[in-house]
Order: sequence, then C-alpha cells, then structure tokens
Amino acid sequence: MNRLFINLYLVIILGLLSINWLSEQLWQQFVESEHAQSQQWHHIEQVAKILPILQGQKHQTKESIISQLSKTLDVPIKTSLMNNFYWLEEQKVKLMSGQVLRNYDEQDNVIFYVKVLESPIVYQVGPVNQSMSSIAHSQDFKWLFLCVSYLLLGGVIALWTRPLWRDLNQLNHMASEIADGKLDLAIYTNKHSPIKKIVITFKDMAHRIIRLLSDQKQLVNAVSHELRTPLSRLRFSLAMLEGANEEQRKDMVQDVSEIEALIDEMLSYARLENINQDIKKSSVELTSLISNQINKLVRISDISITWQKPAPCYYHCNEHLLERAIQNLSTNALRYAKGSIEISLVNTQDHIEIMVEDDGQGIDKQDRDKIFQPFFRLETHRNRDENQQKGGYGLGLAIVQRICEWHKAKCTLSVSKLGGCKFIINLPKDKNI
Ligand SMILES: Nc1ncnc2c1ncn2[C@@H]1O[C@H](COP(=O)(O)OP(=O)(O)OP(=O)(O)O)[C@@H](O)[C@H]1O
Ligand SMILES: [Mg+2]
Repeated sequence: MNRLFINLYLVIILGLLSINWLSEQLWQQFVESEHAQSQQWHHIEQVAKILPILQGQKHQTKESIISQLSKTLDVPIKTSLMNNFYWLEEQKVKLMSGQVLRNYDEQDNVIFYVKVLESPIVYQVGPVNQSMSSIAHSQDFKWLFLCVSYLLLGGVIALWTRPLWRDLNQLNHMASEIADGKLDLAIYTNKHSPIKKIVITFKDMAHRIIRLLSDQKQLVNAVSHELRTPLSRLRFSLAMLEGANEEQRKDMVQDVSEIEALIDEMLSYARLENINQDIKKSSVELTSLISNQINKLVRISDISITWQKPAPCYYHCNEHLLERAIQNLSTNALRYAKGSIEISLVNTQDHIEIMVEDDGQGIDKQDRDKIFQPFFRLETHRNRDENQQKGGYGLGLAIVQRICEWHKAKCTLSVSKLGGCKFIINLPKDKNI
C-alpha cells in the first residue's frame, strides 16, 4: 500500500512540477523577446521624430542620410504626401502637431509616420516586422500550453490509474464472491499491479477458509470414525466385565489411551490452526536441535539412524514448533522404514534444507499431495489393530505443513536414494521472517 501511495504521489508531483517549470521557461522567453521588441520600436520612434529636420537639407544629403538610417535600423524609410493616405481625425491631429504616429498594416506590422510641419510631406518608417506575436498572443499561447499540459498530465494519471481501477474492481468482485460463499476462486494477479499484495492476501484468505472448512469436515468424520471403534470395544469389554481377566483389562486401558492420544493430537493440530501470527521466534542452532531429537529416537527404536552433524547452523524460528516438525518427520520415517533412516542438513546462501529419508515402501505420486491433509493415511497404514507399530491418526504431516507455513517454509516429498520417502523442509533465509 505504501508503494501505491508513493507511486501516485510521485506521478502527480513530478507532473505538476515539470508543467510549472516548462511554462515558466516559455513565459520568460516571451517576456524577454517582447521587451527587446519594444526597445527596438522606441528606438525607431526616436529616429522618426528627428526626420522632419532633414527637410531643410539638400536633396542628395537628405537621401544619403535617409538611406544610412534605413540601413542602420534595418527598416525602409520613405517619403510621400499626406493626402496619399486616408487618416482618421485623431491621427490627423497627431500628425499635424508633429508627433510620431504608430499604425499597423494588414500583416500586423508596425509603421511609424511623421509629418513635416507646414508641408504636405510625410515620412513613413516601416513596416517593422513583428518577429514575435504580441503579448496578448503569447498569453493565449501560455493558456493553450497549460491546457495541453494538464490534459497530458490527466492522461498519464488516467493511464496509471486504469489498471489500478481494474484490479480494485476484480478485488471487489472477489470479495462479493467470497461473501456469497464461492470460495474456490480463479484469481488472476497481474505481476505489476500495485495492489498485488492485497490480491494475494485475499487469495490466501480464501484458501485458508476453504482449508478450514474441509479440515472441519474431515475432523468431524475422523472423530466419529476413530472414536467409535475403541468406544465400541470398550462397551463390549464393559459388558464382559463381570468375569474380567487381566488381558481384558489391559485392552480397555489400551483403548482409553488411544482415545486420549487421538484427542491430544487433534488438540495440538487445532491449536496450530489458531496460533497467533506473532509466534515467538529466536535464533536456534539447528544441528544441536536435530542431534537431541536423534538421541531420543535412538532410545525407542532399533532402526539405524544416520546423521552426519554439519557445522553449527543458526535459524530464526520458533524452536518448539520446528522441533515438533522434525520429530513428526523422523517418527514417520522410523514408523515406515524397513531398517534404516538418514537425516541431513544443508545450509546454503538462501535457504536451509532439513532432509529426512527412509528405506520404507515410499509413497505413490498420486498420494503425495494428499498425505499433508489431516487424517489422511495410506490404505496400507490404516489399520492400527493389526500392527500397532504403524498406527497413526494422519495428523503428523498436516501439523508439519502448518508449522512450515508459520515459518514461510515448505515441506516437500520426493524419492529417497534409500528407496523410501525423502521429506525436505526448506527454510528460506529471509530477514523478514
Ligand atoms: N516415511 C513414510 N513412508 C511411507 N509412508 C508415509 C511416510 N510418512 C507418512 N506416510 C504416510 O502418510 C500418512 C500420513 O502421515 P502422518 O504423519 O500425517 O500421519 P500418521 O503418521 O499416520 O499419524 P500421526 O503422525 O498423526 O501419528 C501416513 O499414515 C502414511 O500412510
Ligand atoms: Mg506421522
């Protein structure tokens, strides 16, 4: 939004400043040339004033002075008779009193007339070419120039605001679609749009709403399905309680633990959904964090774990959440591996990658996106009764994905060189995070 404001502000201010500057320059030029012209006219007028004095001179002398003056002033000087022209009354009065009369011809050129007193002879100096239009004309031009400039500025602003208007219209349309409950919007974002960020935020918001709704649906399904099985077993065991033996009691305890574990897992997932944007972050040394994790895993499993601890690597994150993400990936690897897993960390200039690989059966391409959805489990890993080891609720990876989102990171899945899955958490090195 700041960029938008600064752009608009600069376009208008720079446009106005350049128009102002240009018109000032032009105006200055007009004023200067006007001044030079009026000086020239004044000069010619002074010369015209003294022409009648020549009347007393010899014809030759007079002619040579006149041609000399004409050359110097660069204007023609002629003599003619007063009656050869048509004069208005006030012009006649002026000429008769010996004053210089200024007149204009059809081309708007100025001509100076002066009459020799007590003689019908009139000196005509001019026409003097008007190199520039009059002040009135130049003022007209200035207005014209200003109008054209403001129209141009208006055009530039219109060009600049049109895409903005179009994007805002789209945003408005999106908002009403969302309000109508149509959440799956195909949103087009122009790379250069000044409101790109708002559109992206809108898009994210719509996606988050979609996800919340689908999660909620899955949650309800999963709760009803997952809780029903251990509960019906419990009911059966209770019915048989009369002659209860130790084994039955153990089963019941196991069922209760399963329900508790499921509820715990669901609660942590729900907590992550509602987590505050400002999660507490600090500089965390990731290699030690992973080493601690591995030490805990080694104690609970026979699977061989390879971890070549690299040089210390610090990352600004929420330690508890990142630990949880790594723990979820590594317990999955332990759970689904045949005999070995490998954990590694790569620290590059723009990101840090934490990789968890295993030699298990892997995950087919078509299921790779689905496994990040809450409560999704591969068909082969669904039944907890048959193989207690593989039992999970399908929430671990959904939690990993949420944690990554909170860190603007990504969790991806590919095939490991060990033959199974290779989960990669890609943490961007961004100062804003
Ligand atoms: N390393 C892996 N190898 C093979 N399949 C995997 C692996 N990790 C996850 N999966 C599959 O993805 C599904 C979802 O994993 P996720 O961690 O979300 O759930 P879970 O492990 O089943 O249960 P939870 O983590 O909630 O205890 C698993 O049920 C399993 O089918
Ligand atoms: Mg898991």
